[in-house]
Amino acid sequence: MMAQKAVIIGAGGIGVALADKWQQSGHYDVHVVSRDTSIDSSWQGWQSDYSDESLAQISAGIAAAPGELSRLVITNGVLQGDGFRPERALRQLSRTAMARVLEINTVLPMLALAAFESQLKNVSRPRVAVLSARVGSIGDNRLGGWYSYRASKSALNMMLQCAAIELHRVNRSLKLIAFHPGTTDTPLSKPFQRGVPADKLFTPKFVADQLSTILDTIETDGRLSYLDWAGEPIPW
Ligand SMILES: NC(=O)c1ccc[n+]([C@@H]2O[C@H](COP(=O)([O-])OP(=O)(O)OC[C@H]3O[C@@H](n4cnc5c(N)ncnc54)[C@H](OP(=O)(O)O)[C@@H]3O)[C@@H](O)[C@H]2O)c1
Repeated sequence: MMAQKAVIIGAGGIGVALADKWQQSGHYDVHVVSRDTSIDSSWQGWQSDYSDESLAQISAGIAAAPGELSRLVITNGVLQGDGFRPERALRQLSRTAMARVLEINTVLPMLALAAFESQLKNVSRPRVAVLSARVGSIGDNRLGGWYSYRASKSALNMMLQCAAIELHRVNRSLKLIAFHPGTTDTPLSKPFQRGVPADKLFTPKFVADQLSTILDTIETDGRLSYLDWAGEPIPW
């Protein structure tokens, strides 16, 4: 049987847990793309600044490795950063912060997906997941706030639906999901974990297990599925 490749973009808490799980499974040759490749690991690391040139070079490098691309998971996302935090009120909106969050949470994942498109064409049943968030649901938004983060994930979902339709035309066995991991104990959620009940704060390993099972079992239907960690659909 031909070797299977799994590619994970972003080596944060969830990305690394998934890479470790898939490497240990022995089913995949695992490739991880990150700004930081100093992490000691058994998978193949690719250092990237996520520029167009870098993504193109890395995609070509992975394409040249043996096997077909069976799993692609894009995990990049930020909630806060240098000089910005999730907004609670209109008066806190900042042009630079909004642009930064949209760049990392929406633009970067879509360009990463585009960079790997050609490798998804002639393969059997590839499964692609992009890390979204429940707070990107417009229908589920009853609390408001977190303007930029919410909007970046809503926009991501819309672009992923476009991509699901387009990719179905080039590979009818492909499935794409926008995935909400639940509140997971990683650097991203660390400052916001107060008040989260212990049984609702997931380990990255638990989330990696859930996502892996969902990708293994989900049927192909030519649509984007917006799913939570339990595999339950989230309203748009
Ligand atoms: N943790 C949660 O509770 C939670 C809940 C809902 C949704 N999510 C989503 O899950 C995904 C993974 O998050 P995580 O919990 O694993 O968080 P994390 O450990 O903080 O990882 C953050 C990820 O975002 C990337 N990233 C951070 N800053 C970046 C920048 N300036 N430019 C490019 N990439 C950058 C990192 O890539 P590098 O490897 O290149 O650093 C890493 O892959 C995110 O999309 C997040 O929105 C998380």
